Amino acid sequence: METDSTEIIQLTHHFKCPRCGNIAEYSGRPNERVIVTCASCGTKGTITLPETKFSLQSTNGNAIEISHLKKMFGDFTAVDDVSFFVKKGEIFGLLGPNGAGKSTIIRMLCTLTTPTAGIATIAGFNVVKQSGKVRQHIGLVSEKMIMYDELTARENLKLFGNLYNLPKDALNKRIDELLQLVRMEKWADERIKTFSTGMKQRINVIRALVNQPEILFLDEPTLGLDPQSTAEIRELTRRINIEHGTTIILTTHIMGEADLLCKRIGIIDHGKIVALDTPANLKKIISGTDVSAFEIEISNLGPHMMSSIQKLSAVKSINQEDATHLLVRANGGDAFDTIVDSLRKNGAKVRMVKNLEPSLEDVFLHLTGHEARDKVSENNSSSTGFGHGPRRRRASRRIR
Ligand SMILES: Nc1ncnc2c1ncn2[C@@H]1O[C@H](COP(=O)(O)OP(=O)(O)OP(=O)(O)O)[C@@H](O)[C@H]1O
Ligand SMILES: [Mg+2]
Repeated sequence: METDSTEIIQLTHHFKCPRCGNIAEYSGRPNERVIVTCASCGTKGTITLPETKFSLQSTNGNAIEISHLKKMFGDFTAVDDVSFFVKKGEIFGLLGPNGAGKSTIIRMLCTLTTPTAGIATIAGFNVVKQSGKVRQHIGLVSEKMIMYDELTARENLKLFGNLYNLPKDALNKRIDELLQLVRMEKWADERIKTFSTGMKQRINVIRALVNQPEILFLDEPTLGLDPQSTAEIRELTRRINIEHGTTIILTTHIMGEADLLCKRIGIIDHGKIVALDTPANLKKIISGTDVSAFEIEISNLGPHMMSSIQKLSAVKSINQEDATHLLVRANGGDAFDTIVDSLRKNGAKVRMVKNLEPSLEDVFLHLTGHEARDKVSENNSSSTGFGHGPRRRRASRRIR
């Protein structure tokens, strides 16, 4: 159902977990009852969002608001009841396995494809009813590079700038600024076909900035780039966000990149959001609030040492990795001292103890599983159809 500017749209709401006190934000329609799961301790609860009216242009401090968005291709549900918001000035990450629905969400937000159901607003404008206004506020770097090889960098930028009817002088000034931003001034009049992939992508990113968008969509901007170019695009993303206050939605398969850049991350699988929080809170899904994992190297590791720490109440699990390494998962702030004391009492020569932080990749694999998606979708299509929730699997480094 679509709304006009006087109708009620979605709200954001803070939910404080009654068990651990973690605060998370949820979005939905006024008076709507939503089931919430604490990203920190996993407690489930139901909240009813308050009744408030505001117009579409009243963005509630959010650059993007999405409510119950759905996209079907024939019988296939590519995006399934997705709701979230992106705050103004935020870098928001969308992570998910191949085919999860990330690009389809972005295409709907950029008015390139029409939602089957649900509502999305960009800078307060409805993506279906006010698509022209939406386009004025956004820039898109899509998965496929949109560039004319035979034209120079400047000609490519002018071509896209002319789509926004910018006055000639203003456009030329803007293009010079953008070329400077990516240190490509001296290549401005060279043809794109002579550029390396990294140089092409720098031009491709600034192409999306010609109209000075408030909101920038970056769909896998570092795909196929070498580590140097990847780092450059990452730095550029950060600068665009900090220096210009641009709101950014980023999709990437590089977990470290999302961890470094994004304030909040939504993990999507089979078209559904399966987790949404800050990177730090997402990692707590694996670690729990009070559980630490240690890698311990013992040069004379023996079975009696393992059984000595197994008896400790703080220790939840032990894995022997090889002849000299243990992975120990334990509860409580003093677990480290207790374990090392016990090992030493049993004659262990402890060479090294490392506190293992769970990575975003651990969280991602934990929530979305290890199976490659081409195989999964074959299985799905022959059995239960589409739009499944996550299969809960543990990340490979997790200690039981
Ligand atoms: N135009 C279309 N017609 C039919 N199916 C489509 C169309 N566009 C996307 N899909 C399907 O929708 C699903 C989601 O695709 P989408 O491109 O959004 O995934 P993604 O998360 O961006 O994946 P990737 O990480 O591989 O880029 C996929 O199964 C894809 O095959
Ligand atoms: Mg994609």
